[in-house]
Amino acid sequence: MRVIVEKSADEVSRRGAKFIASLVRRKPDCVLGLATGGSPLGVYAELIRMHREEDLDFSRVTTFNLDEYVGLGPTHNQSYRYFMQSNLFDHINIEPKRTHVPDGRALDFEAHCRQYEQRIADAGGIELQLLGIGTDGHIAFNEPGSSLGSRTRLKTLAGETIRDNARFFGSEEQVPRLAITMGVGTILESRQCLLIAMGDHKAAAIRSTVEGPVTAQVTASALQLHRDVIIGLDEAAGGWLERREYYAEVERANELLESGQLRALGIGNQ
Ligand code: GLP
Repeated sequence: MRVIVEKSADEVSRRGAKFIASLVRRKPDCVLGLATGGSPLGVYAELIRMHREEDLDFSRVTTFNLDEYVGLGPTHNQSYRYFMQSNLFDHINIEPKRTHVPDGRALDFEAHCRQYEQRIADAGGIELQLLGIGTDGHIAFNEPGSSLGSRTRLKTLAGETIRDNARFFGSEEQVPRLAITMGVGTILESRQCLLIAMGDHKAAAIRSTVEGPVTAQVTASALQLHRDVIIGLDEAAGGWLERREYYAEVERANELLESGQLRALGIGNQ
């Protein structure tokens, strides 16, 4: 796991967007996994800016979103399809048919979930999966107790998640009880994961994710089993990490390596 602690939430967003943009430029037909929630908003705003001002081209990009509330259609202003349209897709040149969000109104959930997995496989798998994290340590809607091998399926939301998300719906009663979500196993199959978190309300979940044991009780901790994960944090979200100094050392060494300052790393001094 590569842990990068930035000075501010804005810097986390800018760095995250830069990372995604460089993949899109390198591989214009890449497959991106996208997330919803407050955390990725800054990343999407920056990608829109890059599209407008720096010709970042999404015309051949394919996307798969992590999850959707059951019962909400695409025009409901709290559905994740609506979120993606209004916060990203409507402002860039992506082909609508290449954007995928689970259908919260599917009648045969099992068939729909199977088909969603199949579509990901048919597209060649997800190259880069963007993730946020719930205060209970969930990724997508994989609540504590979710199997670490789980696939796209129906999931019951935990009380903590319903309380956290009530701010968007006006009251807890209005938050849907079920969601369709990619599984932890689905997420672990993406070639690279970028998890971002901002704010001190995420500090405990981040500590468990990065430095705790791998456990289904904190589904984000399963990312420790993945070979290529970047965790982008602001200082508040990284505030509970015990090995923060070490993560900063790793970043300094990476920068020296990338800029070819090998002697500063003791290479070629003899
Ligand atoms: C929801 C989403 C997650 C997201 C989490 C955190 O539960 N299903 O994908 O990571 O919220 O959201 P926020 O970024 O708003 O804190």
